[in-house]
Parts: sequence; structure tokens; C-alpha cells
Amino acid sequence: MSSLLYHTHRPTMIKEMGPTRDLKPVVAVEKNITPRRLLGFRVTPTDDFLESRKYQLVNSDCYISLAAPRKSMTDYFYKNADGDELIFVHRGSGTLKTMLGNIPFEYGDYLLIPRGMIYQMHFDGEDNRLLITESFTPIYTPKRYRNYFGQLLEHSPFCERDYKIPQDLQTHDELGEFVVKVKKQDILHEITYASHPFDVIGWDGYNYPYGFSIHNFEPITGRVHLPPPIHQTFETDRFVVCSFAPRLYDYHPLAIPAPYSHSNIDSDEVLYYVDGDFMSRNDVEHGMITLHPAGIVHGPQPGATERSIGKKETNELAVMIDTFRPLQVTQDALGIEDPNYKYSWLE
Ligand SMILES: [Fe+2]
Repeated sequence: MSSLLYHTHRPTMIKEMGPTRDLKPVVAVEKNITPRRLLGFRVTPTDDFLESRKYQLVNSDCYISLAAPRKSMTDYFYKNADGDELIFVHRGSGTLKTMLGNIPFEYGDYLLIPRGMIYQMHFDGEDNRLLITESFTPIYTPKRYRNYFGQLLEHSPFCERDYKIPQDLQTHDELGEFVVKVKKQDILHEITYASHPFDVIGWDGYNYPYGFSIHNFEPITGRVHLPPPIHQTFETDRFVVCSFAPRLYDYHPLAIPAPYSHSNIDSDEVLYYVDGDFMSRNDVEHGMITLHPAGIVHGPQPGATERSIGKKETNELAVMIDTFRPLQVTQDALGIEDPNYKYSWLE
């Protein structure tokens, strides 16, 4: 996909190639088979958006980070030249400003920013919590929900009307000094340009940032347990993203709503807990991440299966990221880990 952008000035006017900073994740556990639980809200709030991003789980296909930025980006712009970014807004609201226009965001929004898109995050307040996934292959909606022409099919759990597309294009016809921080091959480069990056007077094409609220995901339910792909929201060649939204439980009279214990041989499973009660666990905190690696079985905690019997619905809200290649655990992740999690299925 591509877009054509009509700039007021040449977008190539480099004034200075400035300092660089190494953004390579610091991996603590390269080969992991341990089920882990990270207490995400323990990530320390940090003023700057880029400095606030703390890698948690990474592999050669994606980096999963948590961030608690306090301040809006006002004195620089950012471009990720390595990957698409999917930012899930757990707390906070504001405006994503891009070359193609603005997207207001709030609690529950996914923001998808294609690689190469220059942007700024502007927050309404200081209490912001974000789950950020960088993908080194493009992020799309699931192909099976689109027809030959790209239109979403009627059984898709979301539709075009749900997308928040860029609006209020503001053309900054300004010359001066504008710093764009560009992430490329894990190095952050500071490049000063002579023209404002948001000097676009119009654009057309299919490559643009958009928002989608998890609250607009319409869950698909069944009489008996349906597997995780029915929650799928995004896909890449290397991982999928699913949304667990409030929904009716399985309605067969003998259905047991809690999931059964399972081995994901084909993917590592990351679950990010957003809101509500969770049927499979007794000790859930908001902002918590669990990692269940491929090759080891996981399932409901003692008592959770029995407790789920007869329940009609759930108000759980969660984001799941299933990566096809194993995830590595960073130094920052170990800093917020609950070391006892791996024993939590013992009675
Ligand atoms: Fe699972």
C-alpha cells in the first residue's frame, strides 16, 4: 500500500544529522520456557514519550513495550523506519498528530501507525499507560474478513465505519529547524530539517494511520468453546493480535465457560489485561502481562474452571499477542516480574 503526499516545501532539506542513541533491547533471557507474569503498571512514568517506552518481550519479528509517558511531544517529531507501530491506549487520551492529519484517541483505542509515518503524541493529561507493539512486517486486518476488493465482510467483528481515520489536516507552511527522531536498525537518529514535517496540503492513497477502539470489537460467540482466532483483530506474517471483549459465554447447557488447559506449540502467547474480571485467574491486576511460551502447557488456575460453570457472560477486556517465534525476556521485564507466577497452578 502507498500514499502520495503533496508537500508545501521539499521534504528532503536536511540541515543537520545530529546525535544518535542506541535503542537495542537489553535481553536478559534469550531462550525462555518459563510462564511469566509482568506487573505492567509498575513501569515508571517518564516525561518523554520515546524514553518512556520500555521493551518487555522481543524477538526478531516484534518488540512489545510498555510506556507511561507524562508529557506531549512538542519539540520533536518521530518516525519509526524499522516497523509499523500498534499503540494500545490503556489510560489517557489525546491526539495523534501525523503528516496526514490528526486522530483523537482515548481509552481502548488501538492506533496503527505504518512505518515511515512522521508523528507526535499529544496527551490531555499526565496519567497515560500504553502497550506498544512494533512489527517488522506490515500489520493488516485478518485477510479472511476481507473480500477480493478489500471490503470487510459482514461476519467480520468490525467494519470500516469503526475506523478513526486522520482528520483536520493542518498545513504548517513553516521554515526553520525541525528535529525528526528517526528509528532505524535500532538506532535513534536526530535529523534536523529546514521545513516543518507537517506541511502537507493534501494526500491520497491507502497507506495511512488509523485508530480502532477495542470497545467496537463485536465478539463472536458460540454454544461451545471457540478458539482464540475468533478474537483476532490484526495479523502479520509473524504474529496476530486478538481482542477479548465483554461477551456472552458459551451457551450450550453443559458448556464449561473457562478455557481448558492447552499447549500452544505454534506460538508464544502474551495476554495484556485491560479491564473487568478474568474467568481463568484469581489474581489479575490491570496492566498485567502474562507470557505462556510455546512448548509448555497452561490453563485455568485451581477453582477457576468450577467457578465458571453457570456463568452467563464476562466483562473481561484484554489484548492478546501470539507470536509465531519465541519471545525473549528483557532486563526491564525482569524488573517488574512476579517470580512466583510459574507456581500459581499448584493447589
Ligand atoms: Fe492460552
